[in-house]
Amino acid sequence: MSTILIYGYSGIGAAVAKQLHAQGDDIIIVSRQTLRDLPYTCIHEDVLEQTLQSGIPDVVINTAGILHTADHGPEKNIQQLDAAWLNENIQANVMPTVRLAQLLTKHMSRNSALRFLVLSARVSSISDNHLGGWYSYRMSKAALNMLVKNLSIEWQRQFPQATIVGYHPGTVDTALSKPFQANVPAEQLFSPEQAASYLLQVLEGLSLEDSGKLVDWQGDVIPF
Ligand SMILES: NC(=O)c1ccc[n+]([C@@H]2O[C@H](COP(=O)([O-])OP(=O)(O)OC[C@H]3O[C@@H](n4cnc5c(N)ncnc54)[C@H](OP(=O)(O)O)[C@@H]3O)[C@@H](O)[C@H]2O)c1
Repeated sequence: MSTILIYGYSGIGAAVAKQLHAQGDDIIIVSRQTLRDLPYTCIHEDVLEQTLQSGIPDVVINTAGILHTADHGPEKNIQQLDAAWLNENIQANVMPTVRLAQLLTKHMSRNSALRFLVLSARVSSISDNHLGGWYSYRMSKAALNMLVKNLSIEWQRQFPQATIVGYHPGTVDTALSKPFQANVPAEQLFSPEQAASYLLQVLEGLSLEDSGKLVDWQGDVIPF
């Protein structure tokens, strides 16, 4: 039995929690929501440090992220890019990983074999960008990839058994992708349950050599 901390409890996060719980793992959910009647330990971020002080989990999965909100969508062109929206993307797509990384680094020990999987996206790849658009999402997720790479280097020296990877889950039928599903072929749109299974398979197969990389739901490395 492993202890798994999942940050964010929505589409992918909730499905991953359910599958891990079904296989007997001990789940801690960190959410901004007040969650009730779930078979997991559910905590608010304010008490995360206290929780980590009593032990580092075996796995941390950060599922936080935004692509759109009720009153703001991703940009189609440069004129639509504004600082407030870019900042909102950074707050959701980058800062939760920064805060988790800072707290984990503070409380890990030299022999910690923590696996930290961070939800990024294929569209964060600069070399794979053939369509343009979605400035704030792409920029913030590209920054997230740099954070993952940097932390992998820091941890390699400090915690040589620990791994951090960025992860692309495929296109998943959640609130995040809902407005953008029209042109996605049915077989390429995963249910949250399918996406959770793929994620857990990739997690299982991760090795130290993967640290700092961006991998997709098939376990293939996506070049930055
Ligand atoms: N769905 C896809 O097709 C797809 C494709 C590629 C990558 N991804 C990535 O996969 C991850 C999970 O996405 P999803 O599809 O499960 O989306 P989702 O159902 O919309 O869930 C997003 C999660 O992010 C949390 N969140 C949003 N803003 C936050 C903030 N400022 N601070 C902390 N938490 C915040 C939400 O928390 P609340 O519940 O408290 O609002 C929610 O738990 C995201 O990083 C997304 O970029 C998804």
